[in-house]
Amino acid sequence: MTVVNVLYQSRTGNTEKVAEAIAEVCGVKAADINKPNNITGSDLLFVGMGIYNGKPDNFLLDYLDQLPANTIKGAALFSTSGRGTDQMELAVNLLEHKGIQIYPKHLLLKGSVLFFNKGKPGEAELNEAREFAGEVLAAFNY
Ligand SMILES: Cc1cc2nc3c(=O)[nH]c(=O)nc-3n(C[C@H](O)[C@H](O)[C@H](O)COP(=O)(O)O)c2cc1C
Repeated sequence: MTVVNVLYQSRTGNTEKVAEAIAEVCGVKAADINKPNNITGSDLLFVGMGIYNGKPDNFLLDYLDQLPANTIKGAALFSTSGRGTDQMELAVNLLEHKGIQIYPKHLLLKGSVLFFNKGKPGEAELNEAREFAGEVLAAFNY
């Protein structure tokens, strides 16, 4: 059986919404990395993150760093930072370093912050996330 997991780190709830849309397509429940989970391995792992001061939250980076090698085959990354996928680079590098095959396109959606991007992610962004999930599942033949 193929095991797909959706993990996310979200301080203000934007990434959580996107993670839930992706998880729904995968037929699983999204898991907040700040809460205990019983994920032991994944054929495909979706990893979602907010970006804070130019990088993912340290808790997410530590979490990814501590994942045992060989428990994850493929990964796809997404963010609601809205300002460039290069800010996800530290997370990408940690996973790549473990020999995990990373889906080449990272999903970048807008998320509300202060007075900007009000109401986002909204239905349009969540639909984009659902499409992305379908695309990734197909690419990994799941
Ligand atoms: C304290 C703080 C710092 C942020 N710094 C950045 C940043 O450097 N680059 C960026 O693109 N977005 C930045 N953002 C925007 C967040 O990445 C965006 O609001 C994202 O949707 C937050 O995800 P979350 O709601 O899942 O926590 C920042 C937001 C906050 C609250």
